[in-house]
Amino acid sequence: MKNIIIFGPPGSGKGTQSSHLIDKYNLTHVSTGQVIRSEIAAKTEIGKQVDELIENGQLVPDHLIIRLLTDWLEKQEESNGIIFDGFPRTTKQAVALKNLLSKKGQDVNIMISLEVPQEELVNRLVMRGTQSGRSDDKLRTIEKRIKIYKEITAPVIDFYKQENTYVSINGVGTEKEIFEEIIQKIDQLTN
Ligand code: AP5
Ligand code: MG
Repeated sequence: MKNIIIFGPPGSGKGTQSSHLIDKYNLTHVSTGQVIRSEIAAKTEIGKQVDELIENGQLVPDHLIIRLLTDWLEKQEESNGIIFDGFPRTTKQAVALKNLLSKKGQDVNIMISLEVPQEELVNRLVMRGTQSGRSDDKLRTIEKRIKIYKEITAPVIDFYKQENTYVSINGVGTEKEIFEEIIQKIDQLTN
């Protein structure tokens, strides 16, 4: 089983590397950011509640995001494993994920943290913002997202250090170089 968290600041390459990993290991992928953007596009109750938060670069409250992830997990069939992209972002979410997986007799097998300097993150996201259409890809919001990552999300690393599943990866380089480094760690730590 390969339940993988792909973790890192905005623009670190979580989505990019997830798409390669899905193919390589035949995994299911969930990006909580994408789930939220779909809710907003569909104008659901939750979508309406969080639209402004996303546009301002703030986190969605834990109880809402945990509910969305719980609902998503319930709909999944058995698979080789799941890539959690952008979840968890708080220690409360990390604990919730552990509890949800333990109900299936599973756990997170590896937590991959992509390390990229702030200047590179901003450059990548400003460039993406010229065409992504994402309401949060504007310079001021990008800087806010990175600040929130540092203050609220980065401490989640300590949880996975204690679980002995934390792995740090240099997220600067070509997509392929980074992917090779990730799969080497996954193959060492999971089966
Ligand atoms: P989310 O959608 O998760 O966005 P994010 O974390 O801000 O990260 P991005 O998706 O912008 O970047 P990425 O790391 O996926 O990088 P990518 O591969 O795209 O979340 C959005 C919002 O939803 C949050 O701000 C929050 O409000 C809310 N939310 C989501 N989950 C939540 C949760 N669990 N709790 C509470 N709130 C939550 O790459 C970025 C760019 O760089 C691309 O253009 C790509 O082509 C390029 N790139 C990729 N790799 C490289 C490389 N090696 N070299 C050069 N360029 C590269
Ligand atoms: Mg992403």
